[in-house]
Amino acid sequence: MRVIALTRIILGVLLINPYFCQGSVVRIVNGTDASAGQFPYVVSLRYFQLHECGGSIIGASWILTAAHCIYSDYVNVLTILYGSINLRNGESPEANTAEVAIAYIHENYVASGRYENDIGLLYLRQPIQFSRYAQPIPLPALGAKTPSQEDATLVGWGYPQSDVMQVMEVLQFVTLTIFTDDVCMNYHGENYSTISHICAGTTGGGKGQCSGDSGGPLTVDDIQYGIVSWSDKPCATTPGVLTRVASFREWIYVTTGI
Ligand SMILES: *[C@@H]1O[C@H](CO)[C@@H](O)[C@H](O)[C@H]1NC(C)=O
Ligand SMILES: *[C@@H]1O[C@H](CO)[C@@H](O)[C@H](O)[C@H]1NC(C)=O
Repeated sequence: MRVIALTRIILGVLLINPYFCQGSVVRIVNGTDASAGQFPYVVSLRYFQLHECGGSIIGASWILTAAHCIYSDYVNVLTILYGSINLRNGESPEANTAEVAIAYIHENYVASGRYENDIGLLYLRQPIQFSRYAQPIPLPALGAKTPSQEDATLVGWGYPQSDVMQVMEVLQFVTLTIFTDDVCMNYHGENYSTISHICAGTTGGGKGQCSGDSGGPLTVDDIQYGIVSWSDKPCATTPGVLTRVASFREWIYVTTGI
């Protein structure tokens, strides 16, 4: 929360929006530490070296994230940290960074209301060297059905409420259920789009996405079906809402060739 707030002040974009919850602990709620190489597709998006969002490697030169994580005027200070479970520079020997050459925000992204089409792509200046710690995540086939009522894995970095600049943070993961559209609409009503969105959480809450997880991947059987978009506050009281990757498979292909 503080890092996000700090970055936003630097950027001059003091947004009050549904993505950033106000829980006291800003991390994947009730997650578990990841181990090195466990989620080699996860990256951290950083403005001025500060973590702002998650993302995923989908090709050597391509990162998938949420549109709301991309500040077009600041792409020149946007870098990607990959190959690392630790957010702080130098904590992981495998850690690497890449600069972003071009950012693509979905043409029909709506930065208000239902936040539809919340998807973006980053083209890197230098391709990623794949290794045990840096690998692309496969995407669903065009038109594939998103599994529902199945276990899904959400991955992201979180911050404690104490001085985040002093604390080493480890990538967190949590197992959630992707709910059916009917269940998602019961929770989110008109704010949920069956085309743009999926939702994931646990029955009864207490686990799920929160600030700083935006843009990060939700996977089922090592295929990415969701991109963290927004959640109610406090986090994990209702299922989190994610961009439905399968609905944007053609857009991704047309933009990247992947
Ligand atoms: C939809 O979003 C608006 C604005 O954030 C909110 O006031 C409203 O309660 C939401 N509706 C539901 C059903 O969650
Ligand atoms: C974490 O899980 C515990 C046990 O299920 C629950 O009591 C607690 O409320 C959860 N934490 C949050 C922030 O939801």
